[in-house]
Amino acid sequence: MTTPIKAARGVRDILPAERAAFAVVEHAAREQARRYGYQDVELPVIEPVELIERGVGGDTDVARKELYRLEPHGDNDADAAARLVLRPEATASMVRAYFQGGLNQGPQPVRLFTIGPFFRHDKPQHLRYRQFVQFDVEVIGDDAPAYDAEVIELTWGWLASVGIEHVSLELNSIGDESCRPQYLAALRDYYRPLKDRLHPDCQRRVEANPLRLFDCKEPQCQPFKEAAPRITDHLCAPCAAAFEEVKSLLDAAGLEYRLNPYLVRGLDYYTRTVFEYQHESLGGAQNSLGGGGRYDGLAGALGYPETPGVGFAGGVDRVAFMLQHDLGAVAPPVVADVLVLPMDDGLDRAAGQVGRLARAVRSTAVDYSRRSLRAKMRAADKTGARWAAIMNAEEAERRVVQLRDLTSGDQREVAWDELAEALA
Ligand code: HAM
Repeated sequence: MTTPIKAARGVRDILPAERAAFAVVEHAAREQARRYGYQDVELPVIEPVELIERGVGGDTDVARKELYRLEPHGDNDADAAARLVLRPEATASMVRAYFQGGLNQGPQPVRLFTIGPFFRHDKPQHLRYRQFVQFDVEVIGDDAPAYDAEVIELTWGWLASVGIEHVSLELNSIGDESCRPQYLAALRDYYRPLKDRLHPDCQRRVEANPLRLFDCKEPQCQPFKEAAPRITDHLCAPCAAAFEEVKSLLDAAGLEYRLNPYLVRGLDYYTRTVFEYQHESLGGAQNSLGGGGRYDGLAGALGYPETPGVGFAGGVDRVAFMLQHDLGAVAPPVVADVLVLPMDDGLDRAAGQVGRLARAVRSTAVDYSRRSLRAKMRAADKTGARWAAIMNAEEAERRVVQLRDLTSGDQREVAWDELAEALA
């Protein structure tokens, strides 16, 4: 016998028990987005590699180490030139779609959201998957700090509506192209003499992309963060004013946050506001339930007219996990409300007909197996069904079933013609 084929490493099946928690989390996300006037979009899962490299930044872990690159298809020139990847995130695609679809021509800003799978070739571990689901929201076309606060309020409300409490909201501003260069120079000056003591990746980052030094999780690099210059001490007047505005709007909304000068968020497109929701129960490197920020330079980096934007992505897998394990709030999925249980052989046709009648008012499954009634009843109890419609050959002949309420145990004879009414 050949070895049974299993799923690829780092990806998983979301089976019914877990899917129920996903459904709750996704439903809450859609409701919350619509409540704030965000419109649903669907974007391709494959994108040109340049979109990601120029979007999230070629020097980020996401672009350098974690991209799933597709083999070029065919050898005609156009195909070979179109180097494609599986999308690792949604923001660059959202901005592309905003321009490509002409949404930049209508009333601004445009509020969009999407829910779907994303792919990162990361080291698989608990709550870090190679395929995962994000709830992503973006406001494109206006730089008012009030949109930053709105996105934070919306996403906070999403987590609250799912029942997740004690979330820590971490907040920072990482400046923009007018103040960040001076800050990065100060950061390089600080780190240069320490270079030999850093992890090899970080040694390179000192010159190439020093902000990424704060993303590093290597123990050997941690002691140096504390004394490093802080971006919030180097903000230009407009960035500082925008940051004050965001904070005062969050205060007005009654949202508590923790200022975290080391929060830089792993992707290069951010300007000004960055934020993240963390939850200690997730532990360690996977404690982030979601995060986002402003990206006023992203459209320009992708070759489109300079256009501001702000957004967020939440990890649906992680929120669903918390819902299922910490809150225990999701009822096991019910296979169907009604189970039709034929007791004799040769009743498939009659059982099918009874199923069709019941299905007009309730979800209904027919047990066509050749098991005993006892075995069928035992299985019925496990599915969470509310009623069993039981019938033997004689009853089928008379076009009646024994309708049993599986909660109370009450049972009565019901004619097929009256079944829908009895179940309604
Ligand atoms: P991100 O921080 O890279 O941001 O991802 C957002 C969330 O997706 C994380 O906080 C985490 O919950 C979840 N996530 C990321 N990677 C994994 C993984 N391997 N397994 C499970 N969950 C994961 C972004 O992607 C930005 N596009 C957010 C954004 C939108 N910024 C502005 N607009």
